Amino acid sequence: MVNSMHTPFILAPMAGCTDLPFRLLCKEYGADLCYSEMIDSHALVARQQDCLELLLTNTAEQPVIMQLYGSNPETMGEAAAILSAQPIAGIDINMGCPMEKIIQTGAGAALMKSPRLAEKIITSVCKKSTIPISVKIRSSWNQHLITAPEIARRAEGAGAQAIAIHARTLSDGFTGSIDHRVILQTMESVSIPVFANGDITSHEQGQALLKKLGCAGVMIGRAALGAPWIFSGTVNQQPSMAYRIKALLRHLELAETHLGPEPGLSKIRNHAWKYFRGTTTGPAIRRQIDATNTYSELRVYVHTLAERLLSA
Ligand SMILES: Cc1cc2nc3c(=O)[nH]c(=O)nc-3n(C[C@H](O)[C@H](O)[C@H](O)COP(=O)(O)O)c2cc1C
Repeated sequence: MVNSMHTPFILAPMAGCTDLPFRLLCKEYGADLCYSEMIDSHALVARQQDCLELLLTNTAEQPVIMQLYGSNPETMGEAAAILSAQPIAGIDINMGCPMEKIIQTGAGAALMKSPRLAEKIITSVCKKSTIPISVKIRSSWNQHLITAPEIARRAEGAGAQAIAIHARTLSDGFTGSIDHRVILQTMESVSIPVFANGDITSHEQGQALLKKLGCAGVMIGRAALGAPWIFSGTVNQQPSMAYRIKALLRHLELAETHLGPEPGLSKIRNHAWKYFRGTTTGPAIRRQIDATNTYSELRVYVHTLAERLLSA
């Protein structure tokens, strides 16, 4: 159950990034709970192949939460019934996605301006699910009317067992600073666990936020990409090049084990260069990685780089 799990450090859902190999890697570094990429409720109900591939999970990564998006309460309920038959710890409802194509359908962060529809969706999902439900929200639609506390209250009333809040409005996008007051107001409005999300860039900062807010957990997104060691309380947060390449080698190993010998190039390439972000040679390594045309080429480059870095 989400309520009883030890969940202070959580990997945020990130489309195109938080697949099984990356979740497993974050788990190995100490993530207490991982969220999947968002899953289209319509595509899941239609059993579309590309969507079914997102359901890949295994026992080693538990507890994992898989995230659904959509704006139709019935379809979301049906999708939740399918997901709850999976060996996962919970289902999350996406009420924070700012992408235009999602907003236009009334899903994602569009739900932050429709508390009643949001509640209907949560009610339907909770009724059809046999596993716990969390809801990931933003502060609101825009700064004029903050809806997070109301939506969180409605979510709890409808049966949700946890809230994750990215404390920015939809119109903020990813700019401006996180509003800790809204997180506190949201925590005050419910008795279920609230996870704080947004702009956490180190393990220490996560610990400090847990202490400052007294929230049930901190959720980390972008800063975990290429730096899964953020979940470890003991690893130097600016590790050596040798440490970085070992983490990337492990990522490739997990990808090959779980996605097959030739995992999708663009996805892996997009992860790979991030392991060297902020280092002197990072830009040159990125150019080399971007220049690879097949997964095999990428693999050869990474292994050659590893030989160099590990013998230095
Ligand atoms: C590449 C990318 C993909 C994302 N995909 C999702 C998603 O599928 N579902 C979701 O709820 N949020 C998604 N988000 C938002 C993150 O979960 C998180 O709320 C946001 O990045 C703020 O946290 P951070 O500052 O720690 O990155 C995504 C963010 C990024 C950068």
